[in-house]
Amino acid sequence: MNAGTIRHLIAIAAFVAISCAPVAAPAAEEALRGHGGPVRALSVAADGAVAISGSFDSRAILWSLARGEAVAVLRLHDSAVNAAIALPRGGFATGGQDGRVALWRAGSDRPLRVMGPGGAGHDAPVAALAASPDGALLASAGWDRIVRIWRLDAPVAPPVVLEGHEDNVNAVAFLPGGALLASAGQDGALRLWSLAGGPAEATRFPAPLTTLAAFPDGAMAVGGGDGVLRIVDRGGRLLAEVEAQPTPIIALAISPDGRSIAAGGLRGAVVLVDRATSRIDRRIDGPGLPVWSVAFTPDGREVLTGGADRLVRRWNAATGGHVGPIMAPRAAAAETDHGEPRGAQVFRACAACHALGADDGNRAGPTLHGVFGRRIATAPGYDFSDALRAMDIVWDARTISRLFEVGPNAYTPGTKMPEQTIGDPEDRDALMRFLEKATRAR
Ligand code: HEC
Repeated sequence: MNAGTIRHLIAIAAFVAISCAPVAAPAAEEALRGHGGPVRALSVAADGAVAISGSFDSRAILWSLARGEAVAVLRLHDSAVNAAIALPRGGFATGGQDGRVALWRAGSDRPLRVMGPGGAGHDAPVAALAASPDGALLASAGWDRIVRIWRLDAPVAPPVVLEGHEDNVNAVAFLPGGALLASAGQDGALRLWSLAGGPAEATRFPAPLTTLAAFPDGAMAVGGGDGVLRIVDRGGRLLAEVEAQPTPIIALAISPDGRSIAAGGLRGAVVLVDRATSRIDRRIDGPGLPVWSVAFTPDGREVLTGGADRLVRRWNAATGGHVGPIMAPRAAAAETDHGEPRGAQVFRACAACHALGADDGNRAGPTLHGVFGRRIATAPGYDFSDALRAMDIVWDARTISRLFEVGPNAYTPGTKMPEQTIGDPEDRDALMRFLEKATRAR
């Protein structure tokens, strides 16, 4: 398969995923979501408490894993967020199809620093990001065929520019110890760069390379456009090959103990490969497939996947069993349904981001307590987008219903609420009846 075919396949998959996504929110599981498009990137912070996801819907979301709630919606990129990682010293980084790389602080929805597009940054999509083990450096892989290394502790220092790939760079990883950076490209090359300078060593493989991750001992797992998972040593020499997927590998992660590799393809299940035997020893088969992103939790017990169904899901790493979507229904279940069970059910799609009670405060979105009769963007203590502040809408059953009939992007252009619509008028009416009661209650 050539480079063009793979790009085309990925574009088609994205299109199919977006255009075939259900519009209404009938089932409880579908209702538990934050993203408006497939989840393209996923990473869990070292403390296991927070995760970041990036989506084709152009948003990144910070999640509290303990509470199963979205804590911030990061809206900056103009198009798909291809990369989203937790940084070793705290905070997060995102990389977009728009060529931008952005740094974020935990709990804030304003970027700390934005690099590119153009200038010292990439002037083509950023496909992947990696942080050095000590957290001082951030590497970005660009479809401008360039790898850039940014100093996180020196905001004004220009990036180191690594040139050599002959096509899109799809993946980057720092090797443990931090002296070497590996990059993998559409040109089939795995390049190893010494951070002390000097020429890169390149190894060629017979397929485009799509993903890359480093083992704790410095070996690497490399995903191919041919569906083959290759394990190579820190010199780039091939140690093992596993026919992991029938289609290009687009998602890859290594367990914290280095024993297991999770690989997802453009179609089908995620496989867990045992490194010692180079065999597939488990399959994650269930809702939300195919996936675009995978990550292990730091304790190695769970695998998170980001799927075409726009949800982040949790799986038991030992059994491959489905644990559930990341947004636990706890938040919604704790609230009463105010005699409107159907409306309460529809509200579960909102509960990750919006509280209802007088004392609950703001989450990723403003509290909806007292929203009926309230002017747009006036909930106390919430940092609304400039777009919402500039609008002249008073919220009531008609305007909120309309918001989800046509979708936030059309009704409130520039909003940082992720795109979502409720197609069934009866669902909207039920939600309005529920909200009228629940947002007034003490
Ligand atoms: C993933 C997070 C998320 C989800 C899910 C979500 N929202 Fe929002 N919502 C937001 C954010 C963020 C804002 C603020 C937007 C801005 O400032 O541009 C917002 C704003 C709003 C507002 C305007 C509030 C005001 O005071 O002006 C309403 C009304 C609203 N959302 C209702 C809902 C309802 C109803 C649902 C479920 C059908 C829902 N939202 C789902 C994040 C979310």
